[in-house]
Amino acid sequence: MVRLFKAIPALFLATLAAADLEILRPNSNVWWVAQSLNEIAWTCNDSPYSQFTIFVNNTDPTVLVSPMAVISVQENFQCSITISQNQANQPAGTGWTLLFASIFNSSEIYATSEEFEIKPLGSAYPTQATTDTSASASGGASTTGTADGANTTTSGALGLKAGGVFSALAGVIGLGALVL
Ligand SMILES: *[C@@H]1O[C@H](CO)[C@@H](O)[C@H](O)[C@H]1NC(C)=O
Ligand SMILES: *[C@@H]1O[C@H](CO)[C@@H](O)[C@H](O)[C@H]1NC(C)=O
Ligand SMILES: *[C@@H]1O[C@H](CO)[C@@H](O)[C@H](O)[C@H]1NC(C)=O
Repeated sequence: MVRLFKAIPALFLATLAAADLEILRPNSNVWWVAQSLNEIAWTCNDSPYSQFTIFVNNTDPTVLVSPMAVISVQENFQCSITISQNQANQPAGTGWTLLFASIFNSSEIYATSEEFEIKPLGSAYPTQATTDTSASASGGASTTGTADGANTTTSGALGLKAGGVFSALAGVIGLGALVL
């Protein structure tokens, strides 16, 4: 029995390793519109961090020399926010990324988004279908792995892994309780 109880910390470590902060939107399919309200969404349920600073960056140094902070302290629990052109007013173009970093040390990058596009003012926002696809991917990360598509495979696998850990834990605790 002692052996089984010793296994518990290892199982908790496995659970912690599965925790991951990812930026869901914007992404390569979900763009922003210049000088308009735009959304940022992340895997708040899987995030090991309670706060972070949000930066914009661009793959082209002539567009942006270095990452620029748009939100200095963002609370993880909000899960998504809408930001205005007063907070982020980047020009239309491609190669944009968002960085989530430690509020104490901006060199400590927690997450980097996919490259996304900022379309010119007046462009249509991403369709609901596009946004829904991403939304179901996030659902997959926090709960089940039922959604299909390449991006949900990883999330689904994580979900299953977490489920397995909890089942294993329940089994170990159950066994312990039986003996006690
Ligand atoms: C910002 O983008 C530049 C250009 O792609 C890149 O060299 C740099 O590493 C990026 N900064 C961070 C913190 O990712
Ligand atoms: C900030 O983070 C970077 C990357 O993790 C690290 O190399 C550096 O030592 C940190 N600086 C401080 C002051 O902690
Ligand atoms: C998954 O991500 C890739 C880029 O990494 C993208 O091209 C594809 O459309 C995404 N699929 C879904 C279902 O979101």
